[in-house]
Amino acid sequence: MLATGTDILRRGYAIAAITTYTLESTRAIVLAAERLEQPVILQAGASSYGAVGREGLAAAALAAARASSVPVGVHLDHCRDPEEIDACLALGYSSVMIDGSHLSFEENVALTRSVVSRAHAAGAWVEAELGALAGDEDVSGDAAAGAEMTDPDQAAEFASSTGVDALAVAVGNVHGFTTEPVRLDLERLRAIAAVCPVPLVLHGASGLPEDDLRGAVAAGVVKVNINAELRRAHLSALAAGLDAAGDDVRGLQKQAIAAMTEVAAEKIALLSS
Ligand code: G3H
Ligand code: ZN
Repeated sequence: MLATGTDILRRGYAIAAITTYTLESTRAIVLAAERLEQPVILQAGASSYGAVGREGLAAAALAAARASSVPVGVHLDHCRDPEEIDACLALGYSSVMIDGSHLSFEENVALTRSVVSRAHAAGAWVEAELGALAGDEDVSGDAAAGAEMTDPDQAAEFASSTGVDALAVAVGNVHGFTTEPVRLDLERLRAIAAVCPVPLVLHGASGLPEDDLRGAVAAGVVKVNINAELRRAHLSALAAGLDAAGDDVRGLQKQAIAAMTEVAAEKIALLSS
């Protein structure tokens, strides 16, 4: 079923929020959640629309969520465009992220506040970001950690002045795989959680050591965003199966779904344990 409301954001437990680009990844993410009987969030948004467009990807994600035996949220990830937010709210998204992390504090507050009022009126919850992550959302690069760490007091002020439902923070996390290992600043994360009135979101979870992920959940993270690890499973499965596939697309699709389901299930299991 499509998960509406903020019930899926529970402290002491983190929901896996996994990016989808295709019908295969949407299916894999939902299959993994069903296998583990756990909720999950499908992130079908902004940059995911790059190749297949918004309407088709969103419709498939919403249909998969509604048909699922477990609660599945459909979330617009990393969006800077209020018009795109409105379009996704109209399509029935259960949550949206307004990413004003590139703006000044005041501009980020104003933009987030305006999105919160429209999203809440449409029955959706809102995630915002304070501080900025290094790295690209769709392609792993050579990013180093620590672009602009989130300040605990600013996070508290941001959350109370915007009315946002969840806040993504920068605590050393990086988008995509990195050449140098990334470690989270868990002390900063705990300091933010101690004063921030809303639950926290951790982006850039791919490649993070299990201990860091567990530490982040213990510190108050309730939603963990994963993308690059599924991308890698998807592309590796296609590369490995290509020669044997002949001209049967379905065989490759099934191999890609199986590989992505394993990775998604691993993450869901880790975060919910
Ligand atoms: O919003 C999506 C993510 O933050 C995913 O990051 O590619 O490092 O898993 P990742
Ligand atoms: Zn992200």
